[in-house]
Amino acid sequence: MGKLMVQNAKQVVLVCRNGEKVLKGESMKDVVVLEEDGQNGVSIIVGSNGLLEAIDHDAKIQQKYKETKFEKVIDATGKCVLPGFIDGHTHPVWDGDRVREFAMKLAGASYMEVHQAGGGINFTVEHTRKASEERLYELFKDRLERMLKCGTTLVECKSGYGLDLDTEIKMLKVIQKAKKELPIEISSTFCGAHSIPKGKTAEEATDDVINVQLPVVHKMMQNGELEVDHIDVFCEKGVFNLDQTKRILESGVNAGLAINFHGEELHPMKSAELGAELNARAISHLEEISDEGIKAMAKSGSIGVLLPTTAYVLRLNKPPARKLIDSGVAVALGTDFNPGVFCVSMPLTMHLACVNLHMSMNEALAAATINAAASLGKADTHGSLEVGKVGDLVIINAPRWEHLIYQMGGHDHLIQYVVKRGDVVYTKP
Ligand code: NIG
Ligand code: FE
Repeated sequence: MGKLMVQNAKQVVLVCRNGEKVLKGESMKDVVVLEEDGQNGVSIIVGSNGLLEAIDHDAKIQQKYKETKFEKVIDATGKCVLPGFIDGHTHPVWDGDRVREFAMKLAGASYMEVHQAGGGINFTVEHTRKASEERLYELFKDRLERMLKCGTTLVECKSGYGLDLDTEIKMLKVIQKAKKELPIEISSTFCGAHSIPKGKTAEEATDDVINVQLPVVHKMMQNGELEVDHIDVFCEKGVFNLDQTKRILESGVNAGLAINFHGEELHPMKSAELGAELNARAISHLEEISDEGIKAMAKSGSIGVLLPTTAYVLRLNKPPARKLIDSGVAVALGTDFNPGVFCVSMPLTMHLACVNLHMSMNEALAAATINAAASLGKADTHGSLEVGKVGDLVIINAPRWEHLIYQMGGHDHLIQYVVKRGDVVYTKP
């Protein structure tokens, strides 16, 4: 018995079809779409193992599978199918919203002014330290369910609102619980170096992350209590400098983590060059990246995770998406969901990437699928609809897939089903 058959689709967006592990430059412009051919729509088969087994025009699939029974059949007449979206950068485990701070920002306060007035990351840290594991989990679960409804089937989630051993571990445990209990898939990141905690210098905080927090994270990974994929640092003027960032990232690598960190957000820091030197899997933000930084990333193959929501809400300089793509840096996208930038939606993020960062819709989709998968080290199994990859699908009520980006904020209305490993995990009521 198969798990799922989708039939009669108008378009199925494969993204790529030759096992590409990342799309760069011109190739980001050519997202592969299988179209209805006049008589036949397109069918998709997900096998009992949750993996894609076949994608082809209806007649061929119906003939081949005429003897097979399926747990679920979806008639996608008039609909389009896309791969589940991959959100490459989020901070979703926290208590204490910052709605008041949004008002301050609208009145003209900058990110660092808010930070210095007791807002920003340290405000969230205070509330997150006080919150019980149960409360943090409930808040986190609600956010993940909202992301899933927006079509996200794999999301990178960071710790980083503890900045001390106990709270960082509490956050990573909350992420671990969600990995086991919720249908959305998670890639987790240890971000104990997200800010300098009150009462410590940057040097003391660096020492605490390297010699107190990381060893415990590592031990829990070895025990099988935690699965953590990445090490992250906020490399920024007034936060962690280049040398501190380097030491923390290297310690993370020694503990078995891949590098995926915040660089070049508010000030040029040469963090892109550092990331390239350390063979970072991904570097996020890049609003202030230099031409040398771009060259270094193009050479190292580090993925640039762009966050158009952040540049929009904080009114930052925009990351130079065109220059990055044209120089051969693979660009991915993330919502950067955090208490200062409250966005759970990859369709809206793609819309902002198109309008504000001058990316084409094909580029934005490649950035939200195969390249985001690459930024998490998961492009072998995720990020495109190819036989053998996970059966993660978004099915929309529209005759062309581009409606999902074009209809600004229209994803609530357009997304009919979200499928994770062949199971329907969201159906529009
Ligand atoms: O990616 N820049 C550092 N971290 C987050 C913001 C987190 C926060 O403000 O709570 C970011 O923008
Ligand atoms: Fe961030």
